[in-house]
Amino acid sequence: MHTTDFIEKVKKRRTFAIISHPDAGKTTLTEKFLLYGGAIRLAGSVKSRRSQKHAVSDWMEIEKQRGISVTSSVLQFNYNDYCINILDTPGHQDFSEDTYRTLMAADSAVMVIDCAKGVEDQTKKLFQVCKMRGIPIFTFVNKMDRMGKDPFELMEEVESVLGIRSYPMNWPVGQGRDFKGVFNRQKSQVELFEGSNHGQNLGEIVTGSLGDSKFNELLGSSLHNQLINDIELLDMAGDEFDMDKILSGDLTPVFFGSALTNFGVQPFLESFLDLTPPPAPRISNNGPIDPASENFSGFIFKIQANMNPTHRDRIAFLRICSGKFEKGMSVNHVQENKKVRLAQPQQFMAQDRVIVEEAYPGDIIGIHDPGIFRIGDTLCQDNSKVKFEGIPSFAPEHFAKIYAKNSLKRKQFQKGITQLAEEGSIQVFKRPNIGIEELIVGVVGSLQFEVLEYRLKNEYGVDILMERLPYRYIRWVDMEGFDPKNFSITMDTMIVVDEDEDPVLIFQNEWSINMVKERNPKAILKEISLRK
Ligand code: G4P
Repeated sequence: MHTTDFIEKVKKRRTFAIISHPDAGKTTLTEKFLLYGGAIRLAGSVKSRRSQKHAVSDWMEIEKQRGISVTSSVLQFNYNDYCINILDTPGHQDFSEDTYRTLMAADSAVMVIDCAKGVEDQTKKLFQVCKMRGIPIFTFVNKMDRMGKDPFELMEEVESVLGIRSYPMNWPVGQGRDFKGVFNRQKSQVELFEGSNHGQNLGEIVTGSLGDSKFNELLGSSLHNQLINDIELLDMAGDEFDMDKILSGDLTPVFFGSALTNFGVQPFLESFLDLTPPPAPRISNNGPIDPASENFSGFIFKIQANMNPTHRDRIAFLRICSGKFEKGMSVNHVQENKKVRLAQPQQFMAQDRVIVEEAYPGDIIGIHDPGIFRIGDTLCQDNSKVKFEGIPSFAPEHFAKIYAKNSLKRKQFQKGITQLAEEGSIQVFKRPNIGIEELIVGVVGSLQFEVLEYRLKNEYGVDILMERLPYRYIRWVDMEGFDPKNFSITMDTMIVVDEDEDPVLIFQNEWSINMVKERNPKAILKEISLRK
């Protein structure tokens, strides 16, 4: 049995991802969390955002950026008694399958929405993955210091576009220049924010009840009355607060605020930490694995190439699911049936990487990978051979045909492609009956093509020819007795097979997907496939 200290440590862990469309304010919000946690002293120091945003199509440049984003891809810090792990979900052109996969390691998600733009494309995609996993999703409506959509309209948009019910935990007092604070519905009190020195410091909060006459003075009667009316409307017409629905991801608690000016960030963080669950049991082939179990176990959800191109080494990111991790421990690599020693495990604290001595369920550690791990692999201490639910392959949206320029380099070409596919930055498909000379590669973000070309040349000495293909959609075919010869597709659709030789269709448009569905009613077409 573990000590009560161990159980306490697990209970205080919160591991979540922040999902958003680029520019909604994810970085700013993360930075403010770190500021409140005391991990940094002044906001604005997490990373130089400008240099990171304009992704240059050059691997060295990408690596330079990765140098920054590796340290920030998982951040751990403490707030009050909580130990918080934030998982980064890279956006912009760097958006890749990794972005989706990271969500497999999270216990909950914070969805940041720009109040002027509402629910945007990338948010929708990331939301779908969270929904599929059934994890709690908390919404932070950001940039309330700017004029944006009406808060009621935003709530309506979240519900209609994402199909999730919402419960405002707080309600904004004014918007744009008039954004003065929020009404905290749980505490039933007004909270006005003051003096954060443009968001660099923590700022003060003035509180009082909704009817308190001081707010007539502080806000002016028109703003105060509007607030009273809004709250009345919400109480009458809105959804009820329902913790079970929050935990199952069917109701999202919504918070309004401004990350830049620190308005509402601390109340959001506190309420979020209070409502969000600690690491829960994870489903495995041996049933749910309790985090408090004696046996250390975890799975690899991301593999990152070494920043130093002269080394082939990689870092595998492991999410701990149960038991206590101790530096130097020997564990079973279940898929390979081998023992490995975890000698130099790293953890990512605010801006630094440190060697970790011990870690707990919910934590993410980076382990040295000499090329033995695959996404989804399990490590565990005893011989239970536990395997966690597979990490899916997510739908690529860009496709290209690639060949080695020099056919004598076929071996290196194959090796490079296999390694990059294992890292999960590309998915590889073949046309049935065509050999490995011609491969079809699918990626989630088009920047991955440039990374692929650069890395094959620099790490494997292979020049490639790449022909971009017009396909945009992919569906894995689930059908008893599938036979490509008897399967009716449209002219612009292609049948390929994935690495497990499972049949896959790639389409140029949604019309063709619907046509193929109509013509083959027995086939189930899936957007996400579970890796074997
Ligand atoms: P991201 O990580 O989601 O891509 O967004 P990021 O935090 O980088 O924020 C995108 C832009 O929005 C930044 O401005 C940032 O300062 C601004 N921003 C974030 N939160 C708020 C907010 O609450 N209110 C307002 N008004 N702006 C906000 P930028 O000009 O692109 O970058 P910078 O020069 O300010 O760093």
